[in-house]
Amino acid sequence: MFDPNKDPFENFDQLLKSATDQKIPEANAMALATVNQKGVPSVRTVYLKEVSQGGFVFYGNYKSHKGQDIEHNPHVCLNFYWPAIWQQVRVTGVAEKVSAEQSDAYFKSRPRLSQIGAWASNQSSEIPNHQHLILRVQEYERQFDGQEVPRPPHWGGWRVIPSEIEFFFGLTGRLHERYLYQRDNGSWKTKILSP
Ligand SMILES: Cc1cc2nc3c(=O)[nH]c(=O)nc-3n(C[C@H](O)[C@H](O)[C@H](O)COP(=O)(O)O)c2cc1C
Repeated sequence: MFDPNKDPFENFDQLLKSATDQKIPEANAMALATVNQKGVPSVRTVYLKEVSQGGFVFYGNYKSHKGQDIEHNPHVCLNFYWPAIWQQVRVTGVAEKVSAEQSDAYFKSRPRLSQIGAWASNQSSEIPNHQHLILRVQEYERQFDGQEVPRPPHWGGWRVIPSEIEFFFGLTGRLHERYLYQRDNGSWKTKILSP
């Protein structure tokens, strides 16, 4: 049960678990917004893989558009939306790379084809056609035949350390409940916002 007097991570863990238990599809999918060097925003969906060490962890290619955006401007926003239960959670914070050990451990847990894909796909770069990607996959399958696929140096995780977390609960008549947690000198202050 959400309780505005509780730690926001505790509330988030419970809400995500509840959404998952209720079979909300892709409950761990979140929109990730970044801003590039020119100030142009961009948003895409990524999967939340864990919440640990005070942050929200996702994985991807460090050279992708999002990777380049974060390199120049680590300020990001995450948004979870669970339509079937009319809930939304928005996280504002700063993204930092997780340790190489953590990325290695997660990479090891991925299916082999995804591991090969991380080598084969220069994420967000232009390719002539889909076949090009398939050929690169075959190339890396040959290269790593009979051995474990190592994590590419350009692939890993980020942890978003939040400065704000807002919980939205949809209610009839647009009388929604909104709770905003703001980090204040290491502790959290909570505000209730008008819908
Ligand atoms: C449901 C869903 C989950 C996704 N999860 C991830 C993910 O965890 N990591 C990732 O790099 N891309 C993921 N993608 C692909 C991204 O949305 C995006 O296309 C890709 O990361 C390239 O984005 P960029 O060019 O802005 O860097 C996912 C896409 C969908 C539709």
